[in-house]
Amino acid sequence: MDRLEITGGTPLAGEVRVSGAKNAALPILAGTLLAGGPVVLSNVPHLNDVTTTVKLLRRMGVEITFHDGLRLEIDPTQIREHLAPYELVKTMRASILVLGPLLGRYGRADVSLPGGCAIGARPVDLHVTGLRAMGATISIENGYIRARAERLRGARLVLDTVTVTGTENLMMAAVCARGESVIENAAREPEVVDLADFLIRMGAQIEGAGTPTIRVQGVESLSGASYAVMPDRIETGTYLVAAAITGGRVTALRTRPKELDAVLQKLGEAGAAIEVGPDSVEVDMRGRRPTAVDIKTAPFPGFPTDMQAQFCALNAVASGTATITETIFENRFQHALEMQRMGANLSIQGNTVVCRGVERLAGAPVMATDLRASASLVLAGLAAHGTTVVDRIYHIDRGYECIEEKLLQLGATIRRLPG
Ligand code: EPZ
Repeated sequence: MDRLEITGGTPLAGEVRVSGAKNAALPILAGTLLAGGPVVLSNVPHLNDVTTTVKLLRRMGVEITFHDGLRLEIDPTQIREHLAPYELVKTMRASILVLGPLLGRYGRADVSLPGGCAIGARPVDLHVTGLRAMGATISIENGYIRARAERLRGARLVLDTVTVTGTENLMMAAVCARGESVIENAAREPEVVDLADFLIRMGAQIEGAGTPTIRVQGVESLSGASYAVMPDRIETGTYLVAAAITGGRVTALRTRPKELDAVLQKLGEAGAAIEVGPDSVEVDMRGRRPTAVDIKTAPFPGFPTDMQAQFCALNAVASGTATITETIFENRFQHALEMQRMGANLSIQGNTVVCRGVERLAGAPVMATDLRASASLVLAGLAAHGTTVVDRIYHIDRGYECIEEKLLQLGATIRRLPG
């Protein structure tokens, strides 16, 4: 398995170009199953999860061609299979996103249950309950969700919990259902809005994406479309924290600052000087040590759980004591255990970590357990004294395009050690 070797202590400086958003590209790729004609997607990030999704779609009979490294031409009109097999789903839970479009467009889908992952049980009961309310017959057999429906009918769905992919699956199922669907307590994440905008580009009738109530008027069919995936707000936040944790100055380009309000507010509290442009954000720490900040994760527009691990690393070397409370997932502090091995003073108490900042972390061999945890260990290594080797970085390759190249451009001392 590949590893990343980082020698810390250098304040990062320079500009980083943000890639397309993983958590928008994955639902949008699944949404191409609804298209009645060719789709061209641009700004698709080069990530393992995208590769896995492309493999899954091709397996169903979708024709996909990569052009000049950034554009995908997709022809979903010759689908011959409606199956998402365990061997693919177990590597990427987001495969569940094909369930709604397959059922909504073809009336059938056999999708392996995703199972849990390092950060939690990750149930999909709300996806299944919503589809049943739309008239689907769904059985869970031998680890698979077997869903059938003559034609889904519009329904009013009240989600018990705010669920991002649950909202996305049900929205995609509704676009070709008979009649109107209303999704209450819907997720408001920008990636949900990006998916809705893509579906609307194909002719779907959706209102309210980005608010707690999404209304969908079912249509008979959708056309093809061309669409550019939104920039990745979590990748943006990760590089801005890299600036803050090393006392440096980094500008993230081709991003959307307004989707980062909660993160920028916390970086400001940590002592960063922040400059916001139309599609750029600069964080300048001016060589200062960050101040520890209290964090409590929440659904958008609250503080994103996908930035929690990164701020745990920041607090680990900050001055003062602060708490980080994780309210979305039940086991998302694995990174704290690894940072303790680097000398961090982090005390896990239920769903809260009490962070007592230390002057310096010491480089050490550490192990990544999930995508954002691995990013946070890279950040800790950038700030630490000495060398850190992060193992199992296949996690990081799922969600960060060319991370070592981008960090090298910012002056980091980092290299990939082939496994
Ligand atoms: C999406 O996961 C993201 N993944 C996650 O990003 C992100 O952390 C998460 O949303 C929260 O923002 C993608 O978009 C591909 P949820 P998702 O359903 O949709 C409970 C990353 O690092 N729940 O919003 O799976 C669930 O247990 C990844 O990029 C149910 O109880 O998360 C959790 O407590 C990690 N039943 C809460 O809802 C359900 O049917 C929120 O989960 C569904 C969810």
